[in-house]
Amino acid sequence: MKTKALLLLASAMVVLTAATAMAAPIIIKFSHVVAVDTPKGKAAEYFKKLAEERTNGAVMIQVYPNSQLYKDKEEMEALQMGSVDMLAPSLAKFAPLGVKEFEVFDLPFIFDGYDDLHKITTGLVGKKLLNKLEVKGILGLAYWDNGFKVMSANTPLRTPADFKGLKMRIQSSKILDAQMRALGAIPQVMAFSEVYQALQTGVVDGTENPPSNLYTQKMFEVQKYVTVSNHGYLGYAVIVNKKFWEGLPAEIRTQLESAMADATEFANGIAKQKNQEDLAAVAASGKSEVTVLSQQERTVWKDALLKVHTDMAGRIGADLIQEVYQAIGFKK
Ligand code: LMR
Repeated sequence: MKTKALLLLASAMVVLTAATAMAAPIIIKFSHVVAVDTPKGKAAEYFKKLAEERTNGAVMIQVYPNSQLYKDKEEMEALQMGSVDMLAPSLAKFAPLGVKEFEVFDLPFIFDGYDDLHKITTGLVGKKLLNKLEVKGILGLAYWDNGFKVMSANTPLRTPADFKGLKMRIQSSKILDAQMRALGAIPQVMAFSEVYQALQTGVVDGTENPPSNLYTQKMFEVQKYVTVSNHGYLGYAVIVNKKFWEGLPAEIRTQLESAMADATEFANGIAKQKNQEDLAAVAASGKSEVTVLSQQERTVWKDALLKVHTDMAGRIGADLIQEVYQAIGFKK
């Protein structure tokens, strides 16, 4: 009798173990809008690799690059509805979620370089901003770098006056809208996936983006002039649906968090160089003429654009702007 019971128990255990081994993996859908060969595209692939390894296959990350699954605005709605689990939208795209403060990253000439920026993304201000997402049902896991923006058009862009009357595509940020208006241009919000065609057909005259996007979306092929102005920053926050994330088994969540920490280090380690390489590739293509602003020219741009900081303080908060100024030692 005892032997029979033991045998039964043993076979039950075999069935259970097999069932666990065969349990379907947890699928995490990670959608983004850029090419695979960009800092964000590469970091998403690296996160997938680490996450799948560290969870021993209990998690499968499905990465959908190039707006395959959703365009800019839809992806935010999809995340809140739970149709997608992970995104890394540009910091310029958080206002439609109701968190306008992220637009502080869009202020022209606020950061002198990656060192300034990292004081925010790895410091208290960055953390505070991510915390604001929670009431929207979203958790911010990390900041991933892209880079500093260039301007492009079919006419040379050396001085603010050169922007007069140009239709410039922007991301959905009111700060970027104010920036283009301060230059005398006409800003036009448009999803990233539509920009190439809009430039090609003349729906818009120009745009701004870090070189990695300009190059991988082939925008440079339909823009005769590129100006390296480094007038503003474009980067990302990696976000997840809070309910989904908190519903994951604790052990898995810890493994994913460690994969995210390493993917973040990777992303922020390759962004600068990738942008330098892609800018060199644009210049070498012969399709657009690349001009780097002199220090003197840059000062003229800065003088024209710093008013955006004061004009838009009401939208993002004068206190927040001061906090950022203090953290980076900003000087006008
Ligand atoms: C853009 O819309 O220009 C960028 O936000 C795209 C991206 O994700 O880098």
